[in-house]
Amino acid sequence: MRFTHVIAAALVGVAAVAWHDAGADVRVGADLKVGPYTVYAAYAQDPARRSVKSGVYTPEQAKRGRDHYRTRCVLCHLDNGQGQHATPAIPGESLEREGDAEAPPVAGDEFLKKWSGQTVRALYDRLAATMPVGAAGSMSPQEYADLLAHLFELSKLPAGRQELPAARDQLDLITIER
Ligand code: HEC
Repeated sequence: MRFTHVIAAALVGVAAVAWHDAGADVRVGADLKVGPYTVYAAYAQDPARRSVKSGVYTPEQAKRGRDHYRTRCVLCHLDNGQGQHATPAIPGESLEREGDAEAPPVAGDEFLKKWSGQTVRALYDRLAATMPVGAAGSMSPQEYADLLAHLFELSKLPAGRQELPAARDQLDLITIER
């Protein structure tokens, strides 16, 4: 945290205390009513920290990721990242219906639940260190980030205006939530 943020946080804290002492309710957002010290804590957190629900990739990036996915991953994890829990859109019609019996889902509720609370960096590291099977680490950092964007889109997480960065220290600031 930069020094200016500490100053800002302290000022907000003082202002909140003064406001609170004057008998006013401190309200944050639509329905969250908090005391002055909670407001202070919220501002004191690293402002760069955010959740995958806040729009951490762009639709264009997810599209690039989809192309990589279709050439390198779909064989095992199937069309929608559902892994061996495959339900083809048209029964019997998907070419990749069998998948890999060992391949877990890499998108959707079950996947998000498994990774919930961990950082995108942890997921990125797992991906880059082990995938694709037989050629682990063979793709560029940008390609792995694009793949994650595609997996997030398949998981129905919202897109945003900024691309998911390929820098691990930045991915460390993004938390996975379902
Ligand atoms: C040959 C089949 C195969 C291919 C190709 C493959 N995977 Fe996997 N993938 C697996 C298997 C099997 C596992 C489980 C391995 C384990 O848990 O040790 C796995 C695990 C994963 C995981 C971790 C899931 C979790 O929740 O632990 C992710 C993410 C993933 N794969 C993404 C990808 C991506 C993206 C690609 C394409 C670049 C890819 N895989 C290519 C078979 C494959």
